[in-house]
Amino acid sequence: LSNIQRKDVLSLEEMSSLEVNELIQYAITLKTQHQRGQNVPLLAGKILGMIFDKHSTRTRVSFEAGMVQLGGHGMFLNGKELQLGRGESIEDTAKVLSQYVDAIMIRTFSHDTVVTLAKYATVPVINGLTDDHHPCQALADLMTIYEVKGTFKDVKLAYVGDGNNVCHSLMLACAKVGMHIAIACPAGHLPKHAIIQSAQSIAASTGGIVEVHHDPHLAVQDADFIYTDVWTSMGQEEESAERLATFQPYQVNEELTQHASETYHFLHCLPAHRGEEVTAAIIDGPHSLVFEQAGNRLHAQKALLVSLLQ
Ligand code: CP
Ligand code: NVA
Repeated sequence: LSNIQRKDVLSLEEMSSLEVNELIQYAITLKTQHQRGQNVPLLAGKILGMIFDKHSTRTRVSFEAGMVQLGGHGMFLNGKELQLGRGESIEDTAKVLSQYVDAIMIRTFSHDTVVTLAKYATVPVINGLTDDHHPCQALADLMTIYEVKGTFKDVKLAYVGDGNNVCHSLMLACAKVGMHIAIACPAGHLPKHAIIQSAQSIAASTGGIVEVHHDPHLAVQDADFIYTDVWTSMGQEEESAERLATFQPYQVNEELTQHASETYHFLHCLPAHRGEEVTAAIIDGPHSLVFEQAGNRLHAQKALLVSLLQ
């Protein structure tokens, strides 16, 4: 992993194209080894502390299982039950945990919390989702795309729905590897302007394309992949009725998918709400790769852990 020289992974913005590509290839190697029953204890004795301020199935279990497969240990830490939940500062938490564990993964609300944690932690910090970014998800998504296509060149992905954390990381990820990403979001739910600009400027140097639309049909036109996420993210529960109405025209269904490439694949970070952002016929149908994608979280994160800890 010669191109990976970083302490933390907070967003894909800071990672170079070379690093992203190298991680994807390494994740594919680790997956093949795992499938042959050849897990190498590359992180023997290492401990990952995993702070969760939000729910999780995939991130929690794949990080913990990944650490064990690498010969180390993943330690679940409920943010509410740590002294953090009673007001201890993130700075002090960072300094203390750095003496007990070899790396920290955190899932929380504000992205600034993760930035502060990384600033004061002397061990690597991995972002396991904030309100603004979900880099581990996007790495697994790129891995899934590469497995199917064998390249990122001339591959178009349409993201339809909320311009949220998952959308932000996907835009940055696609830009880093020179893909074509077209997103469609309702007014008021576009990705953050600064992140669109950053993704577009990265794409200008990698040969990628980042398009932003309101009309889902325009985004989906001839797409190789269609991706969506929940309409109500964690922490937005009180907006859910309003969101259900606003996002209705953005449902991924039989009609919308007619506009994509005939051989398109459907992606979703999960958890999904059948009948809301996607119909059951699509997510449970022959074009769907959502469980392969979820499975790849394990391998992509193992690659990331080895790159930061070895
Ligand atoms: N996609 C994802 O991050 O899933 P969890 O919320 O279950 O971790
Ligand atoms: N956008 C979703 C992703 C969950 C994995 C959320 O933040 O809740």
